[in-house]
Amino acid sequence: MSCQTGGQPITFYKEIKGIPFQEAAKELAIRAGIIIEEVKKDPLDHIYHMFDETIKFYQFSLMKTEDGTQALTYLKHRNVTDETIQSYQIGYAPKKSNALYALLRDKKFDVSDMLNYGLIRQGEDGTYYDLFFDKVIFPIHHEKGRIVGLSGRSLKKNDAVKYINSPESKIFKKSRLIYHLHQALPAIRKQKRLILTEGYMDVIAMDQAGFHETVATMGTSLTKEHVSLLSNLTDHIILAYDGDDAGNQATLKAIDAFNQTKVKLDVLIFPEQLDPDEYIKKHGVQALEHHIHHLLKDPYDYRYDMYKNKRDLKNSHDMVAFKDDIIKMIQDADPSFKRYIKKDSPLN
Ligand code: CTP
Ligand code: MN
Repeated sequence: MSCQTGGQPITFYKEIKGIPFQEAAKELAIRAGIIIEEVKKDPLDHIYHMFDETIKFYQFSLMKTEDGTQALTYLKHRNVTDETIQSYQIGYAPKKSNALYALLRDKKFDVSDMLNYGLIRQGEDGTYYDLFFDKVIFPIHHEKGRIVGLSGRSLKKNDAVKYINSPESKIFKKSRLIYHLHQALPAIRKQKRLILTEGYMDVIAMDQAGFHETVATMGTSLTKEHVSLLSNLTDHIILAYDGDDAGNQATLKAIDAFNQTKVKLDVLIFPEQLDPDEYIKKHGVQALEHHIHHLLKDPYDYRYDMYKNKRDLKNSHDMVAFKDDIIKMIQDADPSFKRYIKKDSPLN
């Protein structure tokens, strides 16, 4: 009291011995017979660190180099804001065959790690070259926010290969990963719902439009792991897949997959085959808001329309197929329905 110093016993011990807090705690624990478990380092820390350094380099090359200007213009043209570039840690892999390899080697990372996690490749002549060359880089984070892989988008409109992804690895499993989930989680909790899209650019456009609860699977269709992960996070999911044929098929599959869970689904249908990003660009945020507030369809409405639209109901074959689809839909809605169908009924 006389020396005006506050604190608790460990601090006191630390001060009089002049040692760090952790050491003080350890010594006192031994004296008191308490076992302190050391916090184990994640054995993959150096891999996460390698991805962090990689992204730092790609972000620098986007924002601060001559080479990056074209990529920056591309992103601006696609309405990606500076704030988004920062918060999504978007970068640019320069037009140099081994810039990343040279940097990581100088920073003493193992070549085998760079190879195994797909940041570089080895040519037939034995030289190493970067996987990503002249690409906009989207880092992919796991649920807790560490970078586990990368996706590179071509800047050219009609490039045969639009996206190149890191290969699957111990930490990069597309069947489990949900893009942007780590940052969307607070909004998902607050809004008590999640919006599911197909692509990175859709997530970004929806997020910038104020729908921060948006995430995406990564080019793969929805897996069982995705379904169980998502249905544990929220009770309400809005499917916002592309408005094209593939998007419609994926929506039907997703409806089926979530049918076994407690999740309430709604479907957001984009006209003119647009994806969410293209829709926002073409029709604006207000149209999107109107769409979400007034034009959501429940899965039954959606299925009914889908089944009907693809058929000519004046054709008897089509009519039978349509009827079969509708019966299946009603049975999905309520399995007990089956009990009321007589065995010899055509409905059976
Ligand atoms: N995808 C991929 N590899 C490809 C094509 C697509 O991994 N060769 C994944 C990406 O995650 C992409 C998603 O599938 O975001 C949806 O693909 P697509 O609809 O073709 O691309 P968009 O998301 O519309 O991308 P963009 O707007 O940049 O054209
Ligand atoms: Mn798109």
